[in-house]
Amino acid sequence: MGFNQKFLWGGATAANQYEGAYLEDGKGLSTADVMTNGSYGKPRKVTWKNLKTGATGAKDFLFGSGQRVVPEGTVPAVIDQKYYYPSHEASDFYHHYQEDIKLFAEIGFKTFRMSINWSRIFPTGEEKKPNQKGLEFYDKVFNELKKYNIEPLVTLSHYETPLHLAIKYNGWESRKLIELFMRYAKLVINRYHDRVKYWLTFNEINCMDVNPFLAGGLIDGSKEKRAQAAHNQFVASAMTVKMAHEIDPELKVGEMIAYSPVYALTSDPSDQLAAMKMMQDTLFYADVQTGGFYSDYKLQEYKREHIKLNDTPKDYELINNFRADFLSFSCYTSNTVTTHNGETDFSANLQAGVKNPYLETNDWGWALDPNSLRIALNTLYDRYHKPLWIVENGLGAIDKINENGKIEDDYRIKYLKMNLKSMLDAVEKDGVDLMGYTMWGCIDLVSAGTGEMDKRYGLIYVDKHNDGKGTYKRMLKKSAYWYKNVIETNGQSL
Ligand code: BG6
Repeated sequence: MGFNQKFLWGGATAANQYEGAYLEDGKGLSTADVMTNGSYGKPRKVTWKNLKTGATGAKDFLFGSGQRVVPEGTVPAVIDQKYYYPSHEASDFYHHYQEDIKLFAEIGFKTFRMSINWSRIFPTGEEKKPNQKGLEFYDKVFNELKKYNIEPLVTLSHYETPLHLAIKYNGWESRKLIELFMRYAKLVINRYHDRVKYWLTFNEINCMDVNPFLAGGLIDGSKEKRAQAAHNQFVASAMTVKMAHEIDPELKVGEMIAYSPVYALTSDPSDQLAAMKMMQDTLFYADVQTGGFYSDYKLQEYKREHIKLNDTPKDYELINNFRADFLSFSCYTSNTVTTHNGETDFSANLQAGVKNPYLETNDWGWALDPNSLRIALNTLYDRYHKPLWIVENGLGAIDKINENGKIEDDYRIKYLKMNLKSMLDAVEKDGVDLMGYTMWGCIDLVSAGTGEMDKRYGLIYVDKHNDGKGTYKRMLKKSAYWYKNVIETNGQSL
């Protein structure tokens, strides 16, 4: 009983939050590179430039709004030395990949999730020929992983659309992006398929609704444009599944959504309905990519709001015929909603909700929920009966080095243990088909939400801080040894 022998234990990262070297060896700018750091309650900013007048400025980056990310008549740009842009150096995986992969192997990782930085391969996204140096970097990374028998899981687009495409086309609003993405996806899948079997298309595709600039490169993210961008990504995803199977029938291409179970605060049926509607906003994305159809509730909503997609009948054939091979998701927390007034607003991994009186929260207001993974796994498995993969879960916390020079992160161990037990229950008691678990930010990296370095998730500490200072020295935390034991015993130690 328990996890099968092939269960893929490991950790997850994303290029823009981990690699650094943002302009090295010919890399172009991505949307992540124009975002400053922020903190809990202090939004990140997107710095901008007016190309006609030369005026510059910075605009708060607000989640959940369809507003323009920079003012009318300006473009996002890296220009202002008075701000700090955390993606520029991040944790410097670019120069530490050998050391880091060796540490992953020491912990016993069977798999490692990472993304390819699109603008490292096609700096503007529009070149006809790729940047060789960028390709060579990932050759080195995949070869190093192979040396330790660590199976890569590669995200093709994790919040890092080439900035040029955002400016020229309003990102994924344009169908041109399908063509450009396919050029990139075809190239990298062809080149690396001998070393990379598992692929993901778009990270947290449903975040298009709350974070259209990062999820879709949308500078103007009004609802109609977000719907179009999501549609274009659905088509590109289906085309990627088709193409990957043609290149190599052994390849598995997954979809990826952000999933937080939504609870009703009270038994008032209108609260239940609100929770159901919020859940549908997430499930819609999985319905299309894993189910192969546009959900009726979404079609009705588009009709009601006069949202008209620029689509073709062929799009729907592709979506139906080339569904994802597996469904992957991030899940850190749960969310609670109510139609009643007077509750405190807070944010659970990008979703607005209220405080759940039964749950503690972390320092960033995310609820610590012992059942979220079991609920998520059951809901998704019941609905689609497709293999699942938890590709993100973890605890963001402030870590302190103690007098013995160590990090004793018992709070992280507690969080992981609670979540892994819930995951084990879903497999053992409920029969869910789960392929693997990659904990988020297995090595400290930049927070996507706040741009902080000190919101740490890692099993491995990186000496780098919010102000950009640090030596980049790596060190295993107590949780690394704990996780090593979990992997060695294939979860029996839980
Ligand atoms: C997910 C993203 O939303 O959550 C990651 O896929 C992100 O990119 C992670 O880093 C944790 O969120 P945060 O805001 O704490 O970095």
